[in-house]
Order: sequence, then C-alpha cells, then structure tokens
Amino acid sequence: MFDVHNFPVPAEWAKRAWVDAAKYQEMYRRSIDDPEGFWAEHGKRLDWIKPYSKVKDCSFGPDDVHIRWFEDGTLNASANCLDRHLEKRGDQTAIIWEGDNPKEDRKITYRELHEEVCRFANGLKSIGVKRGDRVTIYLPMIPEIAVAVLACARLGAPHSVVFGGFSPDSLAGRIVDCDSHYLITSDEGVRGGRPIPLKANADTALERCPDVKKVVVVKRTGGKVDWVDGRDVWYEDLVAKASPDCPPEEMNAEDPLFLLYTSGSTGKPKGVLHTTGGYMVFAAMTHQYVFDYHDGDIYWCTADVGWVTGHSYILYGPLANGATTLMFEGVPNYPDASRFWQVVDKHKVNIFYTAPTAIRALMREGEGPVKAASRASLRLLGSVGEPINPEAWLWYHEVVGDGRCPIVDTWWQTETGGIMITPLPGATKLKPGSGTLPFFGVQPALVDGDGKILDGAADGNLCMLDSWPGQMRTIFGDHERFVQTYFSTFPGKYFSGDGCRRDEDGYYWITGRVDDVINVSGHRMGTAEVESALVAHDKVAEAAVVGYPHDIKGQGIYAYVTLIAGEEPSDALMAELRKWVRKEIGPIATPDLIQWAPGLPKTRSGKIMRRILRKIAENQHGALGDISTLADPAVVDDLVENRQNR
Ligand code: WTA
Repeated sequence: MFDVHNFPVPAEWAKRAWVDAAKYQEMYRRSIDDPEGFWAEHGKRLDWIKPYSKVKDCSFGPDDVHIRWFEDGTLNASANCLDRHLEKRGDQTAIIWEGDNPKEDRKITYRELHEEVCRFANGLKSIGVKRGDRVTIYLPMIPEIAVAVLACARLGAPHSVVFGGFSPDSLAGRIVDCDSHYLITSDEGVRGGRPIPLKANADTALERCPDVKKVVVVKRTGGKVDWVDGRDVWYEDLVAKASPDCPPEEMNAEDPLFLLYTSGSTGKPKGVLHTTGGYMVFAAMTHQYVFDYHDGDIYWCTADVGWVTGHSYILYGPLANGATTLMFEGVPNYPDASRFWQVVDKHKVNIFYTAPTAIRALMREGEGPVKAASRASLRLLGSVGEPINPEAWLWYHEVVGDGRCPIVDTWWQTETGGIMITPLPGATKLKPGSGTLPFFGVQPALVDGDGKILDGAADGNLCMLDSWPGQMRTIFGDHERFVQTYFSTFPGKYFSGDGCRRDEDGYYWITGRVDDVINVSGHRMGTAEVESALVAHDKVAEAAVVGYPHDIKGQGIYAYVTLIAGEEPSDALMAELRKWVRKEIGPIATPDLIQWAPGLPKTRSGKIMRRILRKIAENQHGALGDISTLADPAVVDDLVENRQNR
C-alpha cells in the first residue's frame, strides 16, 4: 500500500544540489561516528565573536539531563542574521512582505532591516529592556515582527512570541509564566480582509498581568485603540527617536535566545527554551540543505511567526543564510483560492514550504485556481506540521509542482528547533507520505512499549538516541518537568510523543501523536487544555476531548460534555460552549463536534477510558475492545447511539 509510487531524484537535481545520494551517506555517517568533528566544522557557518573550543556536552540521563553545544563560544544571533551580510548583500532584499490585501507589498533590504532593528533595539533599551529580560511579542505577520524578534536577540532579551490567534487568557498565561514585563503588539491585525483586535486583546490580557510595565504598539490599520498613559508607547515614536547605532550584545552560545509555548499532554502549555549557538547552527544548516537554498533563491514559508516553523524557517534560518524570505500576512483563500499561486508568480518564488492542511483545503477547490497561475518559478515544495496523506502529496506534486518539483516532507517539533527527518532534494528518493531519512546528526530509534529498541522494518515510538544542536534545553522555569516529559517514558532517550513506522528501506513514516495531544490543522493542541476550558463553564460538570480524523484539518476536536444536574442540552448551549472555548483559548481550539454525554466511560478507579472515546469519535465503535473493566458499561451504549461523527 505504502510503496506504490516512488519518485527518484531528478538527474539535474543530483547535479546541482549541495548534497547528492553518495554525499548524504558520507556526511550522515560522519555526523554519527564523529559528532564532535562534524559539528565543530559546521558550527563555523556562523560568525562567532569568540570561537568555541568545546563542541558537545550532552546527557539524556537517566540521572542527569543536560544539553550543551559550543558552550564556550560567544555570538549574537541578530548580528548573524544582519550585520555580517551588510558588506556583500546590504542592498539585497531580506524580506518580501506580501500584505493580506494583494495590492500591498514591501521589500526590505538587509541594510534597511539592520537599521530598523538597531533603532528598535535602542528603543526597547530606552523603555528599560535589558539583557535577560523576557519580552512577549503578540503581533500579526508584518515586517515589525521580524524587527521585534531580531531586536530582542540583539539585546540578549529572550523573546516569547504568542500567536495572534490566541485569546487574551492564553496570552496572559504565557506572560505570567515567564514573568515577562514587556509586550509588543499592534493596534489590529488583518487576515482575509477582516481586522483582528490585537491591542484590545492585549488590554484584556494585561488586566491579569500587573507586572507588565510597557506595551509597545505598532500601527498596522490605524484602528481605534484604548490607551494607558505611561504604559503604552507607539512603536513608530520609539523608532523615530532612537539612534541607528546599536552594537549587538555578546551572548554565550548557551544563553537563551527565545522561549515558545507549546501544548503537551498534561497541564498548561510549556515554555520551550532554545539557546543561541546550537539553535542558530541547526536552523541555518537545515534551511540550506533541506531546501537546497542557493544565493538568489526566493524562498517562501507560509507559516506564522507565532509557531516554531516561522521562527526557524521564516526568520532565523533564512536570514542567517542571507536569503530573501517572503512573509505573507494573509490566508490561502483570500481574495480567492488562487492567492498562494498568484503570490508565487508575483514574486517569482522558487522554494515554497506549507502545511498539509492548506494543501487539502486548496485541493478541494480543484485545479482551476492553481492553473490560473504559471508557477514557472517553483523548483522545490515542502510540507510540515502533520502527516501528509499520499493523495494530498500526489496532488501537490502533480498539480502545484507540475510533476517537476521534488517535495520535502519535513518532520520536526517545537522542541527540536529544526528539521529532523526529511528528504534532501538532490539525494533522497521520495515516497509520498514518508518523511524519509534523518538529517545529519539525527539518530532516530523506534522503541516498543517497554523501551526496547526495534530493528529493521518496525512500528513503534519515535525517540532520539543522542542530542543535536537545535534541541530545546529545558522548559522555562521547570527543568524537572522537562526531564519528566521527554526523558522519563524511555529513560536515557528523548521521546518525541509521535508514533512511527520504518519500512524495509529504512524510511520513516510518522503515524501521529501517541499521547493526548491532537494536531489540528498542523497546530498542536493538548486535549487537557480544551477540557479545562470546557469545565470552566458554569454549566459543564465534566468534559473529555479526543481527536478524530478530519478531511481538511487532519484531526478535528471532538468533545464529550456532561452538564451539571438540572441543565438541559440545547443547540444554543452547544453554540455557547464553542464560543466559550474560542474565548478561553482561541479559535484554533474550537470543538468541531460536541456530544452531550450523560456519563463518561470510567474504570472503577474513576479514570476516563479515552481509548473508548477515541474509537467512538472515529466512528469505529465496532472495535471498542475490552470494556469489562468499566464501572458502568451501559454509558457506552448511549455514547455510541448518539455519536456525532457518522
Ligand atoms: C507533527 C511543528 C508528520 C508531529 C514543526 C510532531 C508531523 C508535531 C510533521 C510537532 C511531518 C510535524 N509529518 N507529522 N512532516 N511535522 N508533525 O511542535 O506530530 O508545532 O510531534 O512543530 O507535529 O508540532 P510543532
């Protein structure tokens, strides 16, 4: 079933690419046999202020978990993305910005970006931001988000970008968790022609964050905003007053560069912490090799900077490589379903990186909107965020890429900092739906439930046996949780939370999360988070949330809700609960299906049997398995009878 179509490396690719099949084998072997030597050499791709003499000091436990790369080297991430390019490519476009409105765009050169970043970094200093301070960024996809990120990096102030689609509550939680005293936002965002009230959301969030001293507001739409004198300052005013001269802070390789909150199977989102040296080496190197980036290429990653993909593959990786990176403010279907391809033609995009959910949504619109654009500039396509089903892969390949562009299906995570399992376009034969083979220095292993490493073709839990430079270092403020989450299920190994199959050719096929995390349109959502939002509603007694297969989103959110005694289910209440979850977490967490559950299937010790709930949500209730351990097996009949996914 899996291996029906194989796509060999086109001959011209093997010739022009940085890496062909033989070179991949040779470099991969060396990266595993001699990691110190391999990374000592590749670390040099950055400009170091003080070169490193130590390369790697990592332990996955069980006793002590620590990860250090290039630890005695010093550098600055923003200088690596900007200053070092000025001499050779100061006048080259660094960022092509394409607005939500097709009539709006901007090109920003490396020199202009450098100057703006220096000014804004000085502006941040003038309101009190110092090295080590956490700065929260809640901005739409406008050039100022790049400026804000790089200005923080310049000052050595770790940024925490919060996706603009998150609610005030989610924003507040993230601000409080990392004790951030500064927030950068904008009056409004615009997506699909509609305004998003970011400043108003921020104002609501800050009612819960008394320690936030300053809020910088970028003017995007000119929409009306409330103003807190003494706290709020306009970005434009700060930048206009500031000097364009701002020497970068000398940071240690292991100083924090940023934190980024992500959902796990339990508790609140965790602040994934990345440091400077290893992350930058890994982001830049993967960007070059995976996308086979060459000077002059126009590169477009459609992610939002609010997610890790935007951090590593809109900003840090491409800018460290001196690339031209396209930033898109809008959505794939506005003004119409041809937008992506119109943008490709308009800016002559060569490398295009998006998510399967977008591909599936566009596939539904048929070939017309794709064929309306020439797409002649495209050379390489990429996919990230969730497993890509072979149908969507083939459509992407045949229709979008006219059968001529290889597809790199890149598996990685917020925690991994950069791409881990991926084809290299000049080296790897492709199989639709497979992430294929590990990147340099990456040592995947599949283990069974007991932690035994499986050999050959096998199906198991995806772990990593050793560290790579882009690996997260800890969870902000909670190293114990870091160890517990990633290194305790299979002691001595990093556990990704994903299930995976390896075929006879050693190719990896990610099968999806094996924990209580669901992947909705390529966004990670902890079922526990949605449950706690639901039970926070005063009419809800209990809730259980699971994922189910969804044609466009990959997985949809299915919520079983038990109301408190005396409350009656109604369509109005269902709509209210949906709205409630949107307000509590954000639109991406809105349940797709809600089922009223008079009771939930529980063991005699009171544990909810999610396995059963998943099967019912998947409409697979014929295969419920053993339900004899349930305290009250009768509840299952009612749930099956009233299931919502048919
Ligand atoms: C899933 C996004 C299959 C996976 C970069 C992982 C994928 C989670 C792929 C991380 C892929 C990401 N094929 N599954 N190519 N890429 N995933 O942290 O379940 O937002 O654990 O990072 O997305 O999501 P995150």
